[in-house]
Amino acid sequence: MNLPDMLEAKKRTKDKVDFIYTNPVKNDFYVGKKYFIKTYGCQMNVHDSEEISGLLENIGFERVESELDADIIILNTCAIRENAHDKVFGFLGRCKHLKKEKPDLKLILCGCMAQEKSVVDEIMAKHRYIDLVFGTHNIHELPNYLMNLHDGLNIEVKSNEGNVYETGETYHRDSKYTAWINIMYGCDKFCTYCIVPYTRGKERSRKSKDILREVECLKEKGYKEVTLLGQNVNAYGRDNESEISFAELLREVAKTGIERIRFVTSHPWNFTDEMIQVIAEYPNIMPYIHLPLQSGSDRILKLMGRRYTKEEYIALFNKIKKTIPGVAITTDIIVGFPNESDEDFEETIDVVNKCQFDGAFTFIYSPREGTPAAKMEDAVPLKVKEDRLHRLNEIVNNYSLMNNKEYLNKTVKVLLVGYSEKDGSKLYGYTETMKLVNVICDENLLGQIVDVKITDAKSFSLDGIVEK
Ligand code: 5AD
Ligand code: SF4
Repeated sequence: MNLPDMLEAKKRTKDKVDFIYTNPVKNDFYVGKKYFIKTYGCQMNVHDSEEISGLLENIGFERVESELDADIIILNTCAIRENAHDKVFGFLGRCKHLKKEKPDLKLILCGCMAQEKSVVDEIMAKHRYIDLVFGTHNIHELPNYLMNLHDGLNIEVKSNEGNVYETGETYHRDSKYTAWINIMYGCDKFCTYCIVPYTRGKERSRKSKDILREVECLKEKGYKEVTLLGQNVNAYGRDNESEISFAELLREVAKTGIERIRFVTSHPWNFTDEMIQVIAEYPNIMPYIHLPLQSGSDRILKLMGRRYTKEEYIALFNKIKKTIPGVAITTDIIVGFPNESDEDFEETIDVVNKCQFDGAFTFIYSPREGTPAAKMEDAVPLKVKEDRLHRLNEIVNNYSLMNNKEYLNKTVKVLLVGYSEKDGSKLYGYTETMKLVNVICDENLLGQIVDVKITDAKSFSLDGIVEK
C-alpha cells in the first residue's frame, strides 16, 4: 500500500493544492512495532514530532520511552546553533552500536539539520549506517518512505517547500490540555545570523478556516489552551492576498471561546497596533508576549538585518506594556555577534535595564554555514563572549526574580498541566502570563484552571497553594 492511496487531493485554489489524509490504514507489518522519537530545538520541532508520532501510530506503531526498546529510532533535529549538531551525532553514534544486536533496527534523522547540505554530505561520507534522512518539507510522506525503504542510506530531502499540507487531527498530542497549532511555516526575514529561512523555507500561511476548524475541534475535545505557532506570526496571511491578517486571525480564534490563546513568535518589526488592541480586548488571549530583542546596539541590529532600532524596540515594548494590563514580556538575546564591541554590549544591557524583562533566553552567537553573518570577520575571543553572557544572565535573572516577586501573596489563575518534576505530590501549571507555578493541590484538578495563591517566588518559578 502506498501513501498516495491514502490521500485525497483537493484542488481548492488555482495555484495551491492541499492534501488531506483520509484516515490512514493500519498496516499488519507495523502493528506492534515500536518507535522512539527524540526531539531537539523549538516548539515547531516539538509539534512536528507530534505529527510524526501520529503518522506512525496510524499505521500501527507504538511509542516507547527508551531507544533500547525501539524498532525505529527517530531524531528530529535542530540547526539553529552548532552545539545541536554534536549532540545529535553523539546520540547517533550510540545508536549505531545497537544495530549490532538488532540488525533490523532503523535509524532515521529528520528536521532542520536534514535541510543543511553540509550535514547531508557529512552523513553520506561518515554516517552511512543511518537508514533514512528526510527534511522539514515532506514529513507527511514518512509512511510512504518507510514502506519503500531500500537497504542502506535513503535520503529524501526536498529543497522546495511546496504546498501547505492539511493532515487533519492525526497528531499524537503530548498534552490533553494544551495544544500547538501551526498557523504558518517558514520565514522570509533572513536575519543575517539565522539558518531558519534556509531550513524551513519561505513563509507559507495555512488557511484561516483550517486553523479555526482545528481550534474548534480541540475545544470540543476538551483542550483548554492553544498556542499558535509560526517563526514570525505577525507575517501571517501576507503570502496570500485573500487571507486575513494575524490580528484578525487572533480575533477569530478568540471568538471560538477557547479558554486560553497564546502565540509565538512575534518579530518586533510590524507588530501592529491592531494586534496590541486585539490582545488587550479579548480576555482569552493571554497577556504574554515573546518579543526577541537580539541586541540593543543599533549598529549590531543593522548588521543582523533586524529592521528596527533600539529606540523603536523600547517604544514598542512600552506601548505593549501600557495597552495590555499586567502583560509579561520575554525576549531572546544573542551576545558575541561578529565584532560586537564592549559599547555594543553595553547598549544591550541598557535595553535590559530599561525593559526589565520577565525572562530572557540568552545565547552566544553561533556561526551557521550559508548565512551572511558566517562570512563576517570576528575578532572577539570566546572568553569575552562567555563573560558577557555570564554578566547578562545575572542581570536578566535578577529582573525575572523581581517580576516574579510581584506575584507574592496574590491569587492568580493557573492551568494545571502535569505533575511537578521536583515534588510529585504537587501539580505544575502556568499563569496567564506564562509563569511556571508548582502548586499544592488535589491531583484531580489536573487539566483545570484554578485560583492559586502565590506563596514563594524564584527566578524561574513560583510556588503556590490552590484556593478553595
Ligand atoms: N547563534 C546564536 N543564537 C541564534 N539564534 C538564532 N540563530 C542563532 C545563531 N546563529 C537565537 C535567536 C532566536 C532564537 C530562537 O535563537 O535569539 O530568536
Ligand atoms: Fe530567524 Fe529572523 Fe526568521 Fe526569527 S525572524 S526565524 S531570527 S530569520
